[in-house]
Amino acid sequence: MGPERMIFDDADAAARGGAALVADLAQQAAGRGRFAAAISGGSSPRPLHRLLAAPPLFHRIPWTRVDLFWADERMVPADDPASNFGAARQDFIGSVPMSPSQVHPMPTHAEPEIAAADYQRQISNTLGPSPVFDLVMLGLGSDGHTASLFPGQPEPADPDVWVLPVVGGSPSVARLTLTPPLINHASVVCFFVTGAGKADAVRNVLAAADSRLPATWIRPANGRLLWILDRAAASKVKEK
Ligand code: 6PG
Repeated sequence: MGPERMIFDDADAAARGGAALVADLAQQAAGRGRFAAAISGGSSPRPLHRLLAAPPLFHRIPWTRVDLFWADERMVPADDPASNFGAARQDFIGSVPMSPSQVHPMPTHAEPEIAAADYQRQISNTLGPSPVFDLVMLGLGSDGHTASLFPGQPEPADPDVWVLPVVGGSPSVARLTLTPPLINHASVVCFFVTGAGKADAVRNVLAAADSRLPATWIRPANGRLLWILDRAAASKVKEK
């Protein structure tokens, strides 16, 4: 059985659907004690993030039970326009009642290798030695990249390496990324993809015919794999 797909009329409807999913998963997980989520950057998720900080979802999400991580980050200061953390802080973190101890931005001031090891330690300190994120939200590049896993790089397969320093993307800068072994341990992995520009990549990744596409490396071992798409991004996908 292939991944679940939710296709919405347009990007705004997809953002509303995605934000509702986050709230539902947060309520369910928080009932078990904590909601550990990793989010992505880029432009696509920003409307979704903003909806989390506004009624009604603002009141539904148990913010004091959330532990927020990132799937990737550019090694730039938080006030740099390229910063995924900076964007999220602007879009919702600055407006919701989470204490700093609940928000885990990737370290961007140290040497990449040291920063990657530091973040792995933060994940382990918060989620334990076999970390299971309740949700990992991923985007998709038109080249089939996700997080900061880019085509042309070998698939990171070491189960003991959860965070890697890489260089690439647009802007092509030093970055940190979570690895497929860590992402694939999550309970729910959701690709959130909108816009006609992603239609070819969505079709190619869902067809899983080209393992050079890093998004095809995302195959949750026991969790749910879900795609939230607008019609434009889904326009080249064959109906199931
Ligand atoms: C990043 C993102 C990246 C993003 C895709 C899609 O830090 O660059 O995490 O993986 O999800 O590049 O980006 P857009 O949503 O801007 O198209």
